[in-house]
Amino acid sequence: MSDGVTRRDFVKVGSAGVALGLATSTLPGQAPGDEKLRCAFVGVGGRGGGLLQAVLGLEGVDIVAVCDTTPANLNRAREAIEQKQGRRPAGFGGAYDYRQMLGSDKVDCCVIATPCDWHGRMYHDALVAGKPFYGEKPIAITAKECKLLRATREQHPNVVAQIGFQWGAHQGRADAIRRVKGGEIGELIEGRFCRHNGWGSLGRWFNDRKRSGDWMLEQAVHEFNLLWWVTGEHPLSAYTLGRTNVVEPQNAKRDITDFYATILEYPKGLVVHYAHGWISPPNFGGMETKFIGTKGGLDVLGASLMLQGEKDPRPGEGAGGDTAEHLRNFFDAVRANDPKAVNCGIENGLQASYVGLMIRKSLDEKRKVTFEEMLEDDTPMPEPPEA
Ligand SMILES: NC(=O)c1ccc[n+]([C@@H]2O[C@H](COP(=O)([O-])OP(=O)(O)OC[C@H]3O[C@@H](n4cnc5c(N)ncnc54)[C@H](O)[C@@H]3O)[C@@H](O)[C@H]2O)c1
Repeated sequence: MSDGVTRRDFVKVGSAGVALGLATSTLPGQAPGDEKLRCAFVGVGGRGGGLLQAVLGLEGVDIVAVCDTTPANLNRAREAIEQKQGRRPAGFGGAYDYRQMLGSDKVDCCVIATPCDWHGRMYHDALVAGKPFYGEKPIAITAKECKLLRATREQHPNVVAQIGFQWGAHQGRADAIRRVKGGEIGELIEGRFCRHNGWGSLGRWFNDRKRSGDWMLEQAVHEFNLLWWVTGEHPLSAYTLGRTNVVEPQNAKRDITDFYATILEYPKGLVVHYAHGWISPPNFGGMETKFIGTKGGLDVLGASLMLQGEKDPRPGEGAGGDTAEHLRNFFDAVRANDPKAVNCGIENGLQASYVGLMIRKSLDEKRKVTFEEMLEDDTPMPEPPEA
């Protein structure tokens, strides 16, 4: 590849690793006539555990295997599945055992919810193995991974892949956005975005930028996917300022950003401003996800339009929807074998990570950073903590 990223960078496997495609002899077989999708879970911590409960509530899906490197999480998940399904799923505890699920013909699809530094590697491997996957956001935390994933996607265009942007499952929101694209609020002038958390330090890998990517990748990609959804364009540049070492100043190992504010310059004069912080006293938290146009505004999370001169909002039409519907949409796309049927595919993942990467680079270098400069960034791809 011309960009200096080689596939070998990604697929190299340490001593505990296994080759992609190993048979999973411990997986249960499927009874003849049983047309349930056989799903494997990789990563069943906080988020993966929630996804697991949601999948257990869906019809037509059997969870046949679980892989997690934390024994307590692995056991808890297997027990929950056994209780609900009446059959204990296969369990795997190695850092590279996920490759056995990807290579097994007894697994139809995977749900992946590991820490962010694993995503690019796991999603790349899933594409290469041709295994449909629902993968948590962000799709990647370096520009190099994004470039490799784009190239891999081009070679494997038919693999169904849903990125965990569950806000994309809301049909009322989709309708409101369709109407904005049709011109109902006029030309877009301004994006007013913010997210203010007051949860304090989350600890663990979240505190380590190498593993999480920092908040503009780990968390704010949800908002950046909304930006992509509404505009269909990436920012031309970002200019960002921020602060670290405020939330937990005594913790020298915590190197993530406690507050930043950024200005994103889009084509045709659209300016989006976004502030993201973890330093909010009680009742000061919250979010705003709005666009202002020449004829009105769009409240993206509120799924409604407000036109100049009117008193009441115009709600988008269609059912609501969040994580369960996002998962259901993924399984429907797997059944239909249609990679275009997902709410939020690989392109959503890449476009959202691009914005986070521009912001992070701009913050670090205290200057305006262009889209092209972001893509050329040579931050190394994450090294997995265990190999
Ligand atoms: N979509 C959302 O709203 C949402 C919400 C929360 C978290 N997330 C994302 O979900 C992901 C997981 O977050 P979390 O809060 O559940 O973290 P977590 O630490 O609670 O869980 C991660 C799990 O992955 C396991 N794991 C780590 N490496 C593994 C490997 N190589 N193979 C198998 N298992 C492995 C860990 O043992 C742990 O059980 C993150 O990327 C996060 O950004 C998304």
